[in-house]
Amino acid sequence: MARALRSAEAGAEWCVAAPRTAVLVVRDGEVRFEFVGRAGPEGAWEQALRNAGAGDTLVSPLPPPASQFDQVRAVGPGALVLGSAMPGGLEGLEGVEVRAGILEASCAELNPAVLCGRPWVRLKLAMSLDGRTALSNGASQWITGSDARADVQRLRARSGALVTGVGTVLADDPRLNVRTGDAGIDTVRRWRVVLDSAFRTPASAVLLQEPSLACGPVEIWGTAEAPAQRGECLEVPADPEGRVAIEHVVRELGRRGVQEILFECGAALAGTLLESGLLDELVVYIAPKFLGHRGRGLVELPEYTAVDQAPGMRLVQSRQIGEDVRLILRNV
Ligand SMILES: NC(=O)c1ccc[n+]([C@@H]2O[C@H](COP(=O)([O-])OP(=O)(O)OC[C@H]3O[C@@H](n4cnc5c(N)ncnc54)[C@H](OP(=O)(O)O)[C@@H]3O)[C@@H](O)[C@H]2O)c1
Repeated sequence: MARALRSAEAGAEWCVAAPRTAVLVVRDGEVRFEFVGRAGPEGAWEQALRNAGAGDTLVSPLPPPASQFDQVRAVGPGALVLGSAMPGGLEGLEGVEVRAGILEASCAELNPAVLCGRPWVRLKLAMSLDGRTALSNGASQWITGSDARADVQRLRARSGALVTGVGTVLADDPRLNVRTGDAGIDTVRRWRVVLDSAFRTPASAVLLQEPSLACGPVEIWGTAEAPAQRGECLEVPADPEGRVAIEHVVRELGRRGVQEILFECGAALAGTLLESGLLDELVVYIAPKFLGHRGRGLVELPEYTAVDQAPGMRLVQSRQIGEDVRLILRNV
C-alpha cells in the first residue's frame, strides 16, 4: 500500500479534480503492473482489471468504482487490499480475501474530499520577519526568494482551484496560473476564481487575457447582479456582510470534483477564511526581510480583548526553502 500511495501521490499534480489513486496488480508476491489514475480512479482500475488474472492481489488506496464491480467479479482476484472501507455492493465475493483500511489515514489525506465531503482548503501567505505581506503602497510581489516561489508553484499544481480576492487582482494584476516548467502539469485544467462582490475586476486584467486563458477559464464570483456581456462574471450567494459566502465557494468547487483549493489572497480574504472554520491548512513563507510597521498585516481580524479569543493553528512542519522558511499549520 505504501508503494500504491507514493504512486498516487506522484500523480497528484495531474489529477486535481477527481479522486486520486493507483492500483497495483500483485502476482506471486511481485508487483506485475502499476496504474496511476491521472484523471480519476476509473482509468486506473479499468487498466488494472484488464491486466489482472484470477487469484491476483489488487492493492489500491481507493476501492473500484461501482461501475466496475462486475469486472472485479469476472476477474476473480485472490485478494483486495484497500486503503478505505470495502464498498457496499461488493459483498459476497467468494474466495476473495478482503483487507480494508490499510494505511487508512494516509489514504484519506490523498483524497480529502472523499473523506470529509468537501475539498481541502489551503491558504498560502508570504510575509516578512515582522509579519508584513506588502509595503504600505501595496507592493508585495517577490517578497520571498526563487526557491520559495517555485515551491508555491507546486502547491498551485496540486490544487484543482486557485482562488484570490479582488484586492489582490487590483493591486498585483496576477496571472494566477501554474508555472512549474512542465507543460503537461501547467496545462491541466484548474478552476481559477476571483471573489469580487461588486465585479470591480477590470476586463483588462492580465488573468482574463491570453496566454492566461489558455490554461483554462477564469470566473469572477460576485454578489451583485453580474454585468451583461461579461460571461466570466457569475452572481453567487452572499455572506451576512454581502460578500461572497466562503461556504458556497468550497461547496461549489467540491461539486466540480476539486480535491484541494488554494487561496492566495490579501489580508481581507485571509481573515475571512481564518474565521470561517473552513481553513484546513495554512502555508506561510517567511522571508528574512523587514517591511516595516507601515507595511500591510497578514490577516484582517476583529479586535480581540483577550488572547484566548484569538484563533490559533497547530504547527505540523517547519522547513527552510532556499533563503526563506516555510511553516505548515493545520486546524487545531
Ligand atoms: N504576501 C502575500 O502572500 C500576498 C498574497 C496576495 C496578495 N497580497 C497583497 O495583499 C494586498 C491586497 O489585500 P486585500 O486584503 O485588499 O485583498 P484580497 O484579500 O485578495 O481581496 C479582498 C477583497 O475580496 C473581496 N471579497 C469577496 N468576498 C470576500 C469575503 N468573503 N471575505 C473577504 N473578502 C472578500 C472583497 O472585495 P469586495 O467587497 O469588493 O468583494 C475584499 O475587499 C495587496 O497589496 C497584495 O499585494 C499579499
